[in-house]
Amino acid sequence: MSLHSKKIILAISGSIAAYKAAFLCRLLIKQGAEVKVVMTKAATQFISALTLSTLSKSKVHIDIMDDDSWNNHVELGLWADLIIIAPATANTLSKMVSGQADNMLLAVYLSAKCPVMFAPAMDLDMWKHPSTKNNLQALKEYGNILIDVESGELASGLVGDGRMAEPINIVRYIKEHFNKSQRLKSKVALVTAGPTHEALDPVRFLGNKSSGKMGIALAEALYEEGAEVHLILGPSNHRPQHEGIILKPVKSAQEMFDACHEIFEKCDIAIMAAAVADYRPTSISDQKIKKKEGDLNIELERTPDIAASLGKIKNKQVLVGFALETNNEEANAKRKLEKKNFDFIVLNSMQDKNATFGHDTNKVTIYTDRGEILPYELKSKKEVAFDIIDQTLKYLA
Ligand code: CTP
Repeated sequence: MSLHSKKIILAISGSIAAYKAAFLCRLLIKQGAEVKVVMTKAATQFISALTLSTLSKSKVHIDIMDDDSWNNHVELGLWADLIIIAPATANTLSKMVSGQADNMLLAVYLSAKCPVMFAPAMDLDMWKHPSTKNNLQALKEYGNILIDVESGELASGLVGDGRMAEPINIVRYIKEHFNKSQRLKSKVALVTAGPTHEALDPVRFLGNKSSGKMGIALAEALYEEGAEVHLILGPSNHRPQHEGIILKPVKSAQEMFDACHEIFEKCDIAIMAAAVADYRPTSISDQKIKKKEGDLNIELERTPDIAASLGKIKNKQVLVGFALETNNEEANAKRKLEKKNFDFIVLNSMQDKNATFGHDTNKVTIYTDRGEILPYELKSKKEVAFDIIDQTLKYLA
């Protein structure tokens, strides 16, 4: 696979490894990519902007302000299919973690909607420092992709880990990344996400703590793999990064049910990540319910089970469920797998720290209808999403 017509921002920060960015730029262009270069001021002390503008055949962006004009970092961030930060210094990594935007590179990074890869370069002891390790972990949790350092002789004379990956290896990673994103081309995917709100009166509802982040990460990952993605999202404060995702905001379980049934037939994949309310008030008061003497009893009725209803009518679709359990986890997950006719189910355990509601990380176990039990490490929700896609691919015809 070539990188034909891929739009790549090469972002260079100030390390001696910056000279390798010229080779990287050349290799990317040779592979057919369109490259725009963003540099920090410090990077220009290691390699000239003229070299990179000549290689990329495009103006190099260094300052947010140029003389009397303003460079549009948002536009640049939206233009790219991928940002590769190479070399990424300890300083730039730290600023990326804390969200600082005091140069063009960081402003582009913060406004980007595309995947971001970063290839660190630093001295052995800086690389080993706990703050660097923490920053790397945080960046991975944000969904950025680390291209690990290589081992060898460093500029300081020390020998060990810290060298930026060789440009040829970085290009290999980038090609793998785009290759991966072709795996669901021409497939249609449905994802439910977030909580549902079941109205009681015009100002009150029954809901739950779901943030919608897991389902949104899934929608993003499916989209990055080339699928047409329909995200049926209950009330959530979060939104997917990619504008190409077809977003249908809903409130209640009934609305989510209707939206799913409208498109299920044309789907190849349906992933039920929503935390759907199981009960709703039997009637919704037109007026705000006023407080009275004594207790208030609310009568509840069952909401439709969306996943089970799709499980009954599925034919070609790969149907994936989630189970959030506090006890008897395995038995409950297996029961739901069978009862709702899922191909596989993803179990979140409430007993895992840093997993489930509101967190950016998740720890899951997948149970398949083929009897497999697949436990995974604690990972970012985006990485979990790719694990679920890997599993889904095994079921696609
Ligand atoms: N689900 C759904 N519609 C519902 C309830 C659940 O589509 N009305 C889906 C969820 O999105 C999830 C799976 O079914 O993929 C299991 O949801 P969960 O809430 O864990 O299970 P319940 O069926 O509600 O069972 P229980 O309340 O006993 O845990």
